[in-house]
Amino acid sequence: MNSSKKPIKKILLLGNGGREHSIATFLKKSQKYEIELFGFFNMKNPKMIELCENFYITDEYNFGEKSNFAMLKKFAEISHLDFAIIGPDDPIAAGAADALLEIGIKSFAPTKKAAQLESSKGFTRSLLKEFDIEGNAEFQRFSSGEQEKLEKYCKNISHKFVIKDDGLCGGKGVFVQDDHFTTAEEGIEIAQKILEKSESLVIEEKLEGPEFSLMFLADGKTVKETPTIADHKRAFEGDNGPNTGGMGTISFPEKLPFITDENIAEAKKITEKVMNAIEEKTGEKFIGVMYGGFMRTQTGTKVIEYNARFGDPEALNFFSLLETDFVDICEHAIAQRLDEINISFSKKATVCKYLVPEGYPTQPVKGVEIYVDESKIGEDVNIFYASVYEDENGKLLLGGSRAIGLVGIDEDFETAREKVNKALECVTGPVFSRKDIGSKELLEKRMKESEDMR
Ligand code: AMP
Ligand code: GLY
Repeated sequence: MNSSKKPIKKILLLGNGGREHSIATFLKKSQKYEIELFGFFNMKNPKMIELCENFYITDEYNFGEKSNFAMLKKFAEISHLDFAIIGPDDPIAAGAADALLEIGIKSFAPTKKAAQLESSKGFTRSLLKEFDIEGNAEFQRFSSGEQEKLEKYCKNISHKFVIKDDGLCGGKGVFVQDDHFTTAEEGIEIAQKILEKSESLVIEEKLEGPEFSLMFLADGKTVKETPTIADHKRAFEGDNGPNTGGMGTISFPEKLPFITDENIAEAKKITEKVMNAIEEKTGEKFIGVMYGGFMRTQTGTKVIEYNARFGDPEALNFFSLLETDFVDICEHAIAQRLDEINISFSKKATVCKYLVPEGYPTQPVKGVEIYVDESKIGEDVNIFYASVYEDENGKLLLGGSRAIGLVGIDEDFETAREKVNKALECVTGPVFSRKDIGSKELLEKRMKESEDMR
């Protein structure tokens, strides 16, 4: 029953991680619309299910792309949707938005061709080159038949280099000289191993400098910037240990102190040009999130990579701050009218931390029960359920990836951090988090890296 007399919006949400739980939570808080959510999931995330009118749990690999999204289309068709939101990179790259378009449903997510921005590192480097967009790195693409050419190129290269698998590798396809290998010969060996499995790779110049990332909302005509948020990718305290999807993210009431206005302006200019180039190259407009990784080098802002989706955990901060109705943002983006909407964010600090299974990311415990006592979560803390599922007895089990995301929000950064640190105690079980995210020491370290560049 629509007792509130607000217009009803029927929205399909594909994905069931922390990013999608934050999207779902804030959609449901809409002041303007009565939201009916239709979840297309691959895990029975109990908190997301609570928010849904209907849901489908696919047993098909990666949300059904193997079957050409047959179930997704069937589920979407019976749900009489206004539009869809696709969260994760895999289904976006495989063409979930195209599949939905075939049955007349538009998505806040790019099509397969436009999403090559993330799904092919070589596509993006070549695009920047072809359209003469600033911020590119020296690079060369090699396919599996070009082993000899690759060897010659690496032996004659005059700068340090980075080897990147061309496709999506869940953050595991990048090898940086001095970090992952030392000599050109070692690099060649790694490259050859990649080419045994993948069709192509990119060898690119190693850039030096502090990194920053920025998410832009895009509709093919306009890009809109969003608050600056910094991720912490390493698994352990002090930025040590293996890379992860992101252990936690911070934002300040104003922009992050280690990112300048000039950095933001340069990143935006590059992103606008990239968005236009995508349409010229593929004939399709980029609708969704253009999430760029950049590096501040001695010769200006350079592109490290682009993602074609919300960052996770960045989305958890983003939605904790967003004041504009997200339905309006999605509908304006889908209609190429982002220029007509004013998007605002509250001027507060956010500190987000993920609780992850012991052993994460290399050997995470899975299928083990955790307990969440939400009564221990104080005010101004948001909780999002990620890689967790409910078994037939109602137990909450670890799925093996990042489990529970918590976001502390306050006018004052320190207080936001204290709030989230306290809230981490709400979970018991074999999980850990990074206590140092948001600490003075870590902030000072980032400030110093950034000042060294000036
Ligand atoms: P990516 O998956 O492309 O973001 O790469 C993962 C990490 O590898 C980045 O966050 C950087 O730290 C590093 N990286 C990637 N490309 C380069 C590059 N061209 N120069 C230096 N570091 C890089
Ligand atoms: N937090 C990094 C990512 O979503 O790729």
